[in-house]
Amino acid sequence: MIAFVKGGLAALAVSALAGGALAAEADPADLAVARSLATMLQSARAVVSTNQARINDPALGDKGLSGAAVLEKAIANYREATGRDPASIDPASYEGRLIRAQMDAVVEVMDANQATINAKGTGFKGFIPATFTRLVNEAFEARVGAEASMKFTAPPVLIRNRKARPDAFEAAAIRDYLEKADWPKGQIYSALVSEAGGERARVMVPEYYVPSCLTCHGDPAGELDVTGYPKEGAHEGDLGGVISIGLIPQ
Ligand code: HEC
Repeated sequence: MIAFVKGGLAALAVSALAGGALAAEADPADLAVARSLATMLQSARAVVSTNQARINDPALGDKGLSGAAVLEKAIANYREATGRDPASIDPASYEGRLIRAQMDAVVEVMDANQATINAKGTGFKGFIPATFTRLVNEAFEARVGAEASMKFTAPPVLIRNRKARPDAFEAAAIRDYLEKADWPKGQIYSALVSEAGGERARVMVPEYYVPSCLTCHGDPAGELDVTGYPKEGAHEGDLGGVISIGLIPQ
């Protein structure tokens, strides 16, 4: 990986990345776009989390979680978190194009899973926030092509689905920064890097385990959770995952 240093501001935040290369932080404008996309993803995922018991209810048919219904609630969550209506973001701007693609991806994923979600007689259906998140990111990437990338990854030892495996940059950022004991909780790690496709602003938004995660990811390690995966023996407050966003520097 070749570090790319952008004029003027670059000297402000230069950090050593794996291999000793120097990487500048992403520009504030790029960070703002990344934060916006991460917030929309979290806002939509929260709708699935909040409705998990409903989704798992074997007695209930239609769960009222159509693409349109979930998007409406996601937008309300996003507005609450940011004070901004996503509809007000200029559709011709980079952020405007990306966030619209993301909202379309939310609708696509929910609409595609109606038969599963609304099936009567089945309790646990495997439709959980992490799966929803992965599907939305995949649908987003299919829509935006080389314009941006988005993935919900995790420290390598925690990876359940191979599709979520961190790439070299993500693994190094997790190991050398986000997992370090002195890394401030919640602080984003970002870098401007040169990749095969050109320059990228890479932004890593850390997320930590909360008690509700531990029924699947907690103790005892090795015991199968409700989804059939062995639990990782994780603890509250541990780094549980990272929303990883790749953007074309603007
Ligand atoms: C019902 C059990 C369950 C709960 C509760 C749960 N997870 Fe997971 N988690 C899973 C499963 C299953 C996957 C794999 C999903 C897939 O196939 O993409 C997963 C995947 C992930 C991933 C993506 C990387 C990977 O390993 O594939 C992260 C990050 C993650 N979970 C973090 C969390 C956090 C943080 C919470 C709490 C907010 C949480 N999980 C709650 C079961 C659960």
